[in-house]
Order: sequence, then C-alpha cells, then structure tokens
Amino acid sequence: MSSVEIKKGIYWVGVVDWDLRYFHGPTYTTHKGTSYNSYLIMDEHVTLVDAVFAPFVGELIENIRSVVDPAKIEYVVVNHIETDHAGGLPEIMKLAPKAKILCTGKAKAGLEKHFQTDGWDFNVVKTGDTVSIGSRTQTFLEAPMLHWPDSMFTYIGEEELLMPNDAFGQHLASSARFDDEIDPHILMEEAAKYYANILYPLSRMVLKKLEEVKGMNIPISMIAPSHGIIWRGDPGKIIQAYQRWASGEGEAKALVVYETMWGSTSTMARAITDGLISQGIETRQYKISASDYSDIIRQMLDARLVVIGSSTIHRHFLASLSPLLEEFNCLKPVKRMGAAFGSYGWSKGAVGAIEENLKKAGIDVVQEGLEILWVPDDEEIKRCFEWGQSLAASLK
Ligand code: FEO
Repeated sequence: MSSVEIKKGIYWVGVVDWDLRYFHGPTYTTHKGTSYNSYLIMDEHVTLVDAVFAPFVGELIENIRSVVDPAKIEYVVVNHIETDHAGGLPEIMKLAPKAKILCTGKAKAGLEKHFQTDGWDFNVVKTGDTVSIGSRTQTFLEAPMLHWPDSMFTYIGEEELLMPNDAFGQHLASSARFDDEIDPHILMEEAAKYYANILYPLSRMVLKKLEEVKGMNIPISMIAPSHGIIWRGDPGKIIQAYQRWASGEGEAKALVVYETMWGSTSTMARAITDGLISQGIETRQYKISASDYSDIIRQMLDARLVVIGSSTIHRHFLASLSPLLEEFNCLKPVKRMGAAFGSYGWSKGAVGAIEENLKKAGIDVVQEGLEILWVPDDEEIKRCFEWGQSLAASLK
C-alpha cells in the first residue's frame, strides 16, 4: 500500500503485514495479520512518527518517498522502542542522518542497547514538553508501562490528533485505514484481543493514564495508533472500551474450559455448562486442546466467571491446561471469579492444583471444587448440573 493522507498534510506511511500469525511468541495468535503504522507530518520541519518492523523498512521508505525525499526529515519521534516500531530506525537514520530523535530518556537508553547509535542526535522529552515543527506543535506525554517503560504518546493540538503508539491498537491487517471503513464488530474484537493479551496486567496504569488524559482537557478528534485501524469516526468508543476493560467491569457471562483424558471430565463440563445456561448465564465452553489460548484470554474481558476442569494425572491437571493457567498468572485478569472441577481415578489432585493456579493469578475461587471418581453416573451428572446452577448465583 502507498501513503494515505489522514489529515491535511499528515500521511500514514506504514505497512500492512498480512501474514503475521503470532505475536510476542506463539501464544498471541494474530489470525488477521497486523500493520505497523508510521506517520509523516509535512510542515516547515518534516517529521516522521515511529518507524516499522525492520523487514518492512523498504516499504516504509517507498511510502515516505511518495510524499517527500526522506533526506528532508528533520525530526523522528520514537514513541516506543519495541522492534516492531523501531526496527526500521537505523535505515531511516542513514537517509536522514541529521534528523533529531525525540524520545523519552528510557527510550534513548533502550535504543542505544538495540542499535549502533553513534552520531544520532537524541533529544530527550518529558511529559508536557513541546516541539514546534512549523504550523503545528507536538506535545509529549510519557506513558511508562503502556506498555513498556519507554513508551510515550505524541499529541498535535492543532489537529486534535493523538498518536499513542501501541495503546488503542489492534492486530488487524486491512485495506481500510479508518474505523468508519471497517466492520465495527471485527474492529472491536481485535481491539479487545489486543488489550487482553498485551495490556491486561497493566490495567491499573491504563486507568491512571486515562484519568490523566481526561484531566488535560484536550480535544481528540483522531487517535492514530501504531497497529491497525485509525479511530476518526468515533475515537471516544475505544477510550470508553479501555475504561471498561481496565476496570474489570465485565458481564454476567461464564467460560467453561477443560481437558479430558477418557471423556469423564468432558461429560462433567457439558453438564456444568448446561447448569449455567439453565440459569440464564451466557456461557462458552472450550476444550483446551481444540482451542486458541489467546481467544480465551480475550473472552476473559467480558466473562466474570471462568470454570476450569481436568482429569487428574499423577495428582495434577493435564499439561495442556498449563499454558492457559500460566497466561492467567502472567496477565492477572482483573476482578474475575473461578472454580475447578474434574474426574479422578486412584488419587485426586487436579482440582486442588487448578484452584492454586487460579488464586495465584488473583482469580477469586468462589465455590468448592467438584471431583468425581472414574465415570460420572446419572446422579453425579445431575450433581454437575446443580454445581453449575449454583455457580450462576455468583454472577447475579
Ligand atoms: Fe510494543 Fe507494537 O510493540
């Protein structure tokens, strides 16, 4: 794709990565690819905001060339040093060696550890600092841990334009550039998956930053993140969604996630799911070995209750549940409730181990675990159904 003018004299010059299927290693699946967004501001002092992932820097340079000779770039804003946004920086600096780099102190230190930066003209900025580029002024807002220590947002008041890098982004490759050009359900699903898999453990800081931005009373008519679609039709929609996700508000929904050895835990899962549904609770059931961990994590933003089941093997749960429970521990879902169930043979163990993991992740275990010996009979299937019914009460 070539450059796209997003406001008069401001261009998207990023690249679309249609093929990306995993991000941050193998756990976050990006079924719809992604984009690495960079923005070129044509003013008295030509400014580039963020670079792209190194393998795509040639395309970035071509897109810049479609507007201006890259040698004319005078400022390069580095909102974040992660390699998907700064990987292309060395090539940009070869073409515009005199450009001033505007970034936080932590970003400068990080860039010096990533690249050969001799001769780069670093200009460290802090919250509230401004830099005039001619008819427009850039204002910077440090955003440590949103989602790295070096992160910052760049705001252009004259354009009511916020460029917050990863915040408000989505892994979504598309020919559309704006929120009013794409199916809103697809857009919000990918934005939610992004939040859950990247920002979830930083929710307290997200809330603080949202308050800070609100307190600044600045008009925002466009949010241009570093991944995916630009919010111009309704930028308030994604801000409200972040508020909701970070606060852990959630809905009266349940997830039943399980693994089974010979089918007994599967039978239990079905009965528990039916019990929840019989109480009017919207419930999704996942067999973990047939499911995508990061899709389940995304559902945690909505579902306030997660019920985990496993057969016992060697006094423990089946190993296919481990990555999900590890992810819970890493991402610390906000204000969530949980419970555990499973079948066993000669010794118990899975239910206790699941409960331990839920607690470690900060998930409140709200009901005593349910364990069934060998194969559940009709009476025990009824118990599972009732156990699901009684869990439903925790959501009301
Ligand atoms: Fe924190 Fe898109 O990288």
